[in-house]
Amino acid sequence: MNAAALAGEGPQRALEVAGFAGSLRAASFNRSLLRAAVELAPERMTIVIADIAEIPPYNADVEAQGDPEPVAAFKRAIAAADGLLIATPEYNLGVPGVTKNAIDWASRPPRKSVLDGKPVALMGATPGMGGTARGQSQLRQAFVFTNSYAMPQPEVLVRRASELFDTEGRLVDEPTREHVAKFLAAFADWIDRVGERR
Ligand SMILES: Cc1cc2nc3c(=O)[nH]c(=O)nc-3n(C[C@H](O)[C@H](O)[C@H](O)COP(=O)(O)O)c2cc1C
Repeated sequence: MNAAALAGEGPQRALEVAGFAGSLRAASFNRSLLRAAVELAPERMTIVIADIAEIPPYNADVEAQGDPEPVAAFKRAIAAADGLLIATPEYNLGVPGVTKNAIDWASRPPRKSVLDGKPVALMGATPGMGGTARGQSQLRQAFVFTNSYAMPQPEVLVRRASELFDTEGRLVDEPTREHVAKFLAAFADWIDRVGERR
């Protein structure tokens, strides 16, 4: 082993991250935030956006017949990725149904799911002042059961979203862009620390 490798200074590996937005509407701030993350990711990180729009409501009877293709595709995307990035709104101070539903499908079968041991990072945007803090906090509880490694800090809590995105949904607020870039760099480090090697 050479000196650089001994000091942990070897070249940093490329990372693939699966991302999804927990809102189905076309003009979703959270989808826009996820698109901004694709642009702002560190050079070694590629974020591939997964679509959850066609995932049906969780039903164990349907699952027993085999995962519907949108569910299977979602699980494959997570399994193939080094980490999972979620941009979710907050609904009634909690996790929106579509976000939780997608996680519920992905959590199956328990203990052997694609979420087991997966590094996760959460972001959220809201036009209000709460920044999705309570929704994110609730979502973190699910990752205790799925044994996923949700990054504790930094957080991305985007408040007053309507002032930070332009009419095309581009994140134009420079301090927010810088914060998202730092958050994604921290997520790359988090994956290095806790992620399983593929
Ligand atoms: C059913 C419902 C409940 C909501 N509850 C909250 C809430 O608890 N906190 C909050 O900040 N915004 C709440 N909102 C407003 C959302 O933050 C807002 O609709 C946001 O644009 C949704 O995210 P999106 O733009 O990604 O679709 C709620 C919206 C809906 C439709």
